[in-house]
Amino acid sequence: SDNMGRIIDHKLFTEEDIHEICVRLGKQLTEDYAGKKPLVVGALKGAIYFLTDLTKQMDVEQQLDFIDVSSYGDGFESTGKIEIVHDLAADVAGRDVLIVEDIVDTGLTLKFMKDLLIERGAKSVKCCVLLDKEARRTTEVEVEYYGSKVGNEFVVGYGMDFLNMYRNLPYIGILKPEIIDKYIK
Ligand code: PRP
Ligand code: MN
Ligand code: MG
Repeated sequence: SDNMGRIIDHKLFTEEDIHEICVRLGKQLTEDYAGKKPLVVGALKGAIYFLTDLTKQMDVEQQLDFIDVSSYGDGFESTGKIEIVHDLAADVAGRDVLIVEDIVDTGLTLKFMKDLLIERGAKSVKCCVLLDKEARRTTEVEVEYYGSKVGNEFVVGYGMDFLNMYRNLPYIGILKPEIIDKYIK
């Protein structure tokens, strides 16, 4: 059955596309983080699907932690105001930190996290993002690793949400316009 698929206009990335991206990035990160025992930081909630698949392709000793610095709330557009909803458990001082994100849009969320971790004394802070929505950037922030660029379309699935829904789609797609219209008035 494909109950949830009925809300999708079309797929942008299939499960196979995503798997290939994870294998490619995982290989690169395996080389780059060999012997560094990185702290992998997942950005809740959007990054969790990508993080679990990506780290399984990273053949290096690593530790895992999470941070939630939502700026979108349950909403559709970034509010621009970023707050720490849930902080890391780990001390990042002296650590090589790899932030894992589903998507970089304005760049505000990623910039906030990078600045925070550098300020706390991390030895290095890099990021691996699945999708880079470059055209929407309002803040300069370096994206060291990315899976694919995307255009200015509202994508859902594989962690990415609309009103905190549709994260569990195994692929990435574009919502039917009528689904958005129903809620955004
Ligand atoms: C989304 C997405 C990124 C961020 C990107 O998270 O997962 O973290 O927005 O947007 P930006 O580059 O404009 O800051 P959101 O704040 O919606 O929280 P979520 O991960 O829980 O969905
Ligand atoms: Mn997020
Ligand atoms: Mg969101």
